Amino acid sequence: METGRHGSQSLGSAWLGLHVLLCSSLLLNAIFFAHHFLRASPPPTPERLGDGGGLSWALQAAREAEAVAAADCSGHGGVYRIALRHLTHRHMRGPDGSVLLQWFPFNLCSGNPLFLEPYWRRHAAASAVVFSGWHRLSYITTDGAFHSVELVRHIRRLHTAVGNAVVDDKHVVFGVGSTQLINALVYALSPEGNAASPPASVVATVPYYPAYKSQTDMFDGREYRWDGTTAAWAKNGSRNSTRDFIEFVTSPNNPDTTLREPVLAGSSAIVDHAYYWPHLTHIPAPADEDVMLFTASKLSGHAGSRFGHAASNKACHCKWALVRDENVAKRAISYSRQSTYGVSRDTQLRMLKILKVIMANLQGKDDIFAFGYDVMVSRWRTLNAVVSRSTRITLQKIRPQYCPYFKKTKEPSPAYAWVKCEWEQDVDCYQTLLGAGIISRSGISNDAGSRYTRVSLLKTQDETSTCSWRGSPNSSTPRSTAEPLQAPAPCETVNC
Ligand SMILES: Cc1ncc(COP(=O)(O)O)c(C=O)c1O
Repeated sequence: METGRHGSQSLGSAWLGLHVLLCSSLLLNAIFFAHHFLRASPPPTPERLGDGGGLSWALQAAREAEAVAAADCSGHGGVYRIALRHLTHRHMRGPDGSVLLQWFPFNLCSGNPLFLEPYWRRHAAASAVVFSGWHRLSYITTDGAFHSVELVRHIRRLHTAVGNAVVDDKHVVFGVGSTQLINALVYALSPEGNAASPPASVVATVPYYPAYKSQTDMFDGREYRWDGTTAAWAKNGSRNSTRDFIEFVTSPNNPDTTLREPVLAGSSAIVDHAYYWPHLTHIPAPADEDVMLFTASKLSGHAGSRFGHAASNKACHCKWALVRDENVAKRAISYSRQSTYGVSRDTQLRMLKILKVIMANLQGKDDIFAFGYDVMVSRWRTLNAVVSRSTRITLQKIRPQYCPYFKKTKEPSPAYAWVKCEWEQDVDCYQTLLGAGIISRSGISNDAGSRYTRVSLLKTQDETSTCSWRGSPNSSTPRSTAEPLQAPAPCETVNC
């Protein structure tokens, strides 16, 4: 009996132990379960960034991009400019205690194309590009090329739709801004440097875009050199010379905005069509030269993206000599490879997006060319109204012309005012305008002489309208009674 009682007692305590073990295991599980599911703040996961319809990093990037864009100083120094406007007139005490009017001049020197900024603000969503850190790391595209095939296709389509260039029989070459292509094309068109062949003579007609000279001088190759203006060679110099000429032709011209053609017979011409778009000139016919240069800077305003392209004529190369043409092509490619190893793929992606927006709105109610034309024509009208009251300065004369793109006769809408000082004492027109509070770009920089100076009409509305000719060009003495507080930026050193 004792044994039986003892046996049932030990069975009961074993059952109790099992029970306790089971309960504590359940309790532990419950605690782990509660800890896992009921903790105060769940860990952040990409999906929890907001109601972005499944977007994670792109949504975060978009938020950051909008925050940066909301600050007025982003991009091009808007805050600085507004502050400057308040500072423009301020009273200072002279040595004798009298109040002097001290002022800062307006900088209308550069061709910075900010006049299109309001257009892109209107198309903020459509023109935005977002890509992450792992994207586009490679030097080359998936096709093994440096250039985006899709971008080339869009460039061709745009030229055809606008009617400003014949592209079907042309190669399209990209550059880091058209500035890079200026030298790349000179290099490609020059004879290879050897003792037997003299260097090619690089020339342009006055007044010319100063970068042609400064770039040629700077690279100072054995194959080519700057040889002055076409006037010296035009009569029979080029025909009788054994030299190879490379002539830069800008059409419409920077600075005087005239449409131009090559002057020298038998030269290789590089025709720079930076401004050959309907908002800046009428387009009488599609351009069809052998070598043509274009830039996004003056087309869409994206100067900071540094994107330009050249189109060169395949058919013409074949006609002259196949071997030679191959050489020209090789040298242009070699220049690009050795200097930059292609154009930034980020830039190419951005330009593709910009061209898509332009194409989508072409001839519609939000056409970039109609927008740009309205801005530029109103600036030109205002300027002409002011200058017509003056005998002191004159502007280039431009007649209204029929523009096939707009299918109507258009008033002029040039990128620059080419100002001439008419009064005898105003030998330095740059200084005369500086006296009226405007920094311009002296005609000395393009061999036109100091009687001329260029005023840019491409900048922002507040710069051009506030400036709206504060200085009276008719007054015989400059308006200021003191020197500007800061020396103005030396415009001559800037290729703009
Ligand atoms: C006639 C001309 N060509 C080329 C350029 C340079 O353009 P990018 O910004 O593409 O270097 C300019 C700039 O003002 C220009 O006026």
